Amino acid sequence: MIYLDNAATSFPKPEPVYQALDTFARTTLANPGRAGHRMAMAAEKTLDDVRHALNQFFKGAAPERWVFTLNCSDALNMAIKGVINDGDHVVTTDLEHNSISRPLRALEKAGTITLTRIKSHEGYVTAADVKAALTPKTTLVAMTHASNVLGTVQPIEAIAPIVRESGALFLVDVAQSAGVVPIDLKATAIDMLAFPGHKALYGPTGTGSLYVGPRTDGRIRAWREGGTGGDSSSETQPSILPYFLEGGTPNVLGLAGLLAGVRWVAERGPDALRKHEVDLLQRVVDWAETSDAWRIAGRWEPSTHVGALSLFVPESLTPQDLASILDVTFDIAVRPGLHCAPYIHRTIGSFPDGTLRLSTGPFTTEEEITRFLEALTEITAGVL
Ligand SMILES: Cc1ncc(COP(=O)(O)O)c(C=O)c1O
Repeated sequence: MIYLDNAATSFPKPEPVYQALDTFARTTLANPGRAGHRMAMAAEKTLDDVRHALNQFFKGAAPERWVFTLNCSDALNMAIKGVINDGDHVVTTDLEHNSISRPLRALEKAGTITLTRIKSHEGYVTAADVKAALTPKTTLVAMTHASNVLGTVQPIEAIAPIVRESGALFLVDVAQSAGVVPIDLKATAIDMLAFPGHKALYGPTGTGSLYVGPRTDGRIRAWREGGTGGDSSSETQPSILPYFLEGGTPNVLGLAGLLAGVRWVAERGPDALRKHEVDLLQRVVDWAETSDAWRIAGRWEPSTHVGALSLFVPESLTPQDLASILDVTFDIAVRPGLHCAPYIHRTIGSFPDGTLRLSTGPFTTEEEITRFLEALTEITAGVL
């Protein structure tokens, strides 16, 4: 299969990830526990190694600030529901995935918060847009770093100081950028960073993390309470990180795979990985430019783009039909529809059918893009 759905989850994973999963499952898959037997301690040490690797990769304040989650949605829910209080005002954007939009909209509908959703222009929001949306009641700005529909990278380095100055917390969803866009928590005033392990950090599904910076101390509530592998006499969740926000047996096997994935990315560097993905998309952009029937969504600026690109589908076709033909007849996997991000499709005029999204990865080749473009040309030859 030609896999062009890396924005949903990366496939294949780098070889060291498969090796780490296999070895860990055969030798170390005990329940991590700080006071346990040697195998439990070894499993706990792996968790520790992942926290150190993440902290070094993103230049965080301390390894214990990386809390493991099931996926990015879990991390975003933990962040949003952990810090929101009655009467708060929250700023977000129309680029968001439902994992930000839905919790915020539910809180708005319940009357807990007021919400401002900034409208993007050609796939981008600006620092000025964010500044204009802030009010004295704003306690949280929650936004994506890169749109999962358009692939456009938002100027978080310019937005962060504005949010910091206002006193609000800055939550950034880096689901589409972690691993392919450098993120420096020392240089950028981000309070909470949410990401899945299973996209461009190449861990398996079931992994993710929320980074909770120093400004969240005393402001974030625990919402998943339970066993922590230590401090069992404490009647309530231990107040120290990461255990304050982690309850229950973690996906230690998946995290062993994530560790191999993060190391693989760190060796190559996000810039090189992003360049490969975007260079391949450039061919699709060039092809669309020479066609009367196809248009790409959002402004194409290779320097601020990740490896996801949406195509508006010609009127006589639907993204769903096209994706299904690509899958069944050409063995090509892409993603049609709204991509769990309905607001941006309303903004760009592709609601409710959505777009056809392709997303490249480190193992995508030139030949595969050629095959994709040939397939699109062949499918649409009789129709357009
Ligand atoms: C921008 C963005 N945020 C959040 C998510 C949710 O990630 P997960 O499925 O790991 O919860 C995705 C998934 O595609 C995404 O693209």
